[in-house]
Amino acid sequence: MASRIRVGIAGTGSYVPERAVPNAYFEGFLDTSDEWIVQRTGIRERRFAAEDEATSDLCVHAANRALEDAGIGPEDLDLIVVGTLTPDYPLPSAACLIQDRIGAKRAGAFDVAAACTGFMTSLSTGEAFVAAGRARRVLVLGAETLSRFVDFEDRGSAIIFGDGAGAAVLTPHDECGQGEILRTTLGADGSGYDYIHISAGGSRHPPTAQTVEERKHFIQMRGREVFRFAVSHMSEMISEMLDGYDQEELTLVVPHQVNRRIIDAALDRLGMTDEKVMVNIHKYGNTSAATVPVALDEAHREGRIEKGKLVVMVAFGAGLTWGGALVRW
Ligand code: UT7
Repeated sequence: MASRIRVGIAGTGSYVPERAVPNAYFEGFLDTSDEWIVQRTGIRERRFAAEDEATSDLCVHAANRALEDAGIGPEDLDLIVVGTLTPDYPLPSAACLIQDRIGAKRAGAFDVAAACTGFMTSLSTGEAFVAAGRARRVLVLGAETLSRFVDFEDRGSAIIFGDGAGAAVLTPHDECGQGEILRTTLGADGSGYDYIHISAGGSRHPPTAQTVEERKHFIQMRGREVFRFAVSHMSEMISEMLDGYDQEELTLVVPHQVNRRIIDAALDRLGMTDEKVMVNIHKYGNTSAATVPVALDEAHREGRIEKGKLVVMVAFGAGLTWGGALVRW
């Protein structure tokens, strides 16, 4: 068997839309309050895409920033993988639109459907392609325009979601000399498919006037069940990623920005302190597949990641799905 190529993260980039939407916005039409939202989720505001912006538009900004950070051009890319549950169209993929817009003339392109685990899945896929020698430079993204799929009549879900995009460029570690991906993991439990789902618009219930009338094209979520699943999986995955390594080597945990209380509960279980955890949910809410790459990029640009030390990324969401990665920066 050919030896595995070590893979590194050569650059990161992110983009959030300009329009900031404070909690007070929801007080205008839902029985909710800024106080409830801050206390129960940690969210103070989120970004919503402009009317003429869709997921691929957010991705193009994030991709260009990641390419610039990596110091490579779009024509150098062999592959683009996008984790999203909100592509511009059901057909074709968002990845193809991005491939065209950034001028990645030689690249293959596809989307992966893993909801909030979308970036961990695109990262894992890109890593496997580079490690196997099937691609040399891969752009991986996690991006969402959830504001188009939120049911603004449902106070239990409308208040948590936001829009954004994050990206990373993967190359052989020998080439970039940073961000070596030491391990990744992916998991799923489809028996929980209806914890978070959009029940119509697919092949089981194609769109009809009735499905629209019944609001079945919006996200439906069993928040309390997701909460329980999230706390246990977040702490278990962080432990699994660090297994065999000394916690002293850890520089930062970049968790899915699902709910501040979920992050805090998972940290509590692990006896971890705040300063080693990246949290930006107060600014952007839960952007599903985009939370981890946006937070990673912000941490990287803010100088919060110590070179040579370990970064853990974890996410989970609809499917149910979960995924993690351990990186030596
Ligand atoms: O990335 C994966 C996507 N999914 C998630 O991120 C969801 C994870 N779950 C959560 O973040 C939390 O479960 C929520 C933020 C969605 C809800 O918080 P909670 O503390 O689990 O609230 P709850 O569902 O247990 O509801 C408690 C009460 C209920 O009222 P009653 O039945 O006790 O009278 C809800 O109706 O809070 C009420 N409630 C609200 N009140 C004011 C639910 N949403 C709201 C709201 N404003 N926005």
